[in-house]
Amino acid sequence: MKSIVPPPPAIVHNDVAAVQALFQQFVVPSYGRFDLVLSHGTGSNVYDICGKRYLDLGGGIAVNVLGHAHPAITEALIEQSRKLIHISNLYYQEKQGRLAQALVQLIGPGKCFFCNSGGEANEGLYKLARKFGHEEGRFEVLTTINSFHGRTLAGIAATGQDKVKKGFEPMVEGFRQVPYNDLAAMESAISPATAAVLIEGIQGEGGVTPATPEYLLGLRRLCDDKNLLLLMDSVQCGHFRSGRYQSFQRILEGVPGGESFLPDGISMAKSLGGGFPMGAFWVRDKYADLLGAGTHGTTYGGTPLACAVALKILEVIEREGLVRNVRETGALLWSGLEGLSRKHPAVYRSARGLGFMLGIELAQQIPNLPGESTKMNSVRMANVLHEMGLLTVPAGPNILRLLPPLNLRPDEAREGLDILDAAAARLTATQLRVGAASQRGGGTAHSGESAQPN
Ligand SMILES: Cc1ncc(COP(=O)(O)O)c(C=O)c1O
Repeated sequence: MKSIVPPPPAIVHNDVAAVQALFQQFVVPSYGRFDLVLSHGTGSNVYDICGKRYLDLGGGIAVNVLGHAHPAITEALIEQSRKLIHISNLYYQEKQGRLAQALVQLIGPGKCFFCNSGGEANEGLYKLARKFGHEEGRFEVLTTINSFHGRTLAGIAATGQDKVKKGFEPMVEGFRQVPYNDLAAMESAISPATAAVLIEGIQGEGGVTPATPEYLLGLRRLCDDKNLLLLMDSVQCGHFRSGRYQSFQRILEGVPGGESFLPDGISMAKSLGGGFPMGAFWVRDKYADLLGAGTHGTTYGGTPLACAVALKILEVIEREGLVRNVRETGALLWSGLEGLSRKHPAVYRSARGLGFMLGIELAQQIPNLPGESTKMNSVRMANVLHEMGLLTVPAGPNILRLLPPLNLRPDEAREGLDILDAAAARLTATQLRVGAASQRGGGTAHSGESAQPN
């Protein structure tokens, strides 16, 4: 009998070139990808298809909140998928209600809307701002320079980085950027059309820069005075990554007036689903019914499956005391990074960030390795670290981010620091060697093409 099942694709397993060829032929090339083909992982370790192990301190860019292949997530997926995966938002289901309740308890009085990504969660906040200002003809959202709010059309208009806008003009109307952590700049940018202010509690893609307590409290006062919504994009810095559920809670710890601080809307994604794609936004009680029936929706938002995973993640974080781990192991990592900056000033400059949202600033001109083509410092450094078995995430030209799972163990943090140390030593030694050779007439520090990789 003739089979109707197509033959399996002619791909040889464990063949890097074959996998890359599939991408070259069939995947839209909108990402700059590293030369790694990953196959599986466990905890904070991930393996490529040749079996090489990497310590994953990138965490899928702040997504893999419990690391790879956590059994509780696997179980939640299996258990829920045996009952109900999807029903549409035409109907009620307990899991979504329970997750909304849990998030409200973690943030403050309000309500939640569920969607599928960070960009989409922000879209909800823009619509909230427009609905809020609509009767008075106000629609503008002020955001900050170096911010990142996603790749949707409104997301790139909101984002304070030209590189995401280039080629997609004209921008969606109603977004303007001002310098971050500059209250006076925000105040003077307010126009009669302004409806809301949107900031990240810790700028992520822009280079791991936390808001100052004065900025947060000042923005709250400003928004109250001018009747504006204060919106926070917590897609990357939220979900306990800072050492509290929300980064503003951590930043304002012990600051007079800090405990009562609340924004009016918060977008979430990434760690919320731990790798299962989901997003959400929270709206403060006062504005929680602004988006009434028929005003906003998405087919997959808050499916029983997504919510079961998110609830399980919250349970594990609580049961395993992971917030404490973020604070303690985060402090270990931070001081380790500071130490490395002092030890290797030709490579590392300084540590930045909070908890498990950390960055290390690279020196302006880190030494080249022989054979390297000149690329952004952060990308070059990430490549060197890949060779040495460590995954990190570049943020702009000069910063590497560490966004590990919240259950990263102290010994794993130390292993990461050791690799960063060894990588810097390797770069510095190469520079000294190439420098000495060039003094003898053997080449220059930038003659990578002709030199042999060591
Ligand atoms: C702060 C912030 N907002 C929004 C987004 C967009 O999220 P997503 O890629 O899930 O659309 C990101 C993604 O990196 C982000 O870091």
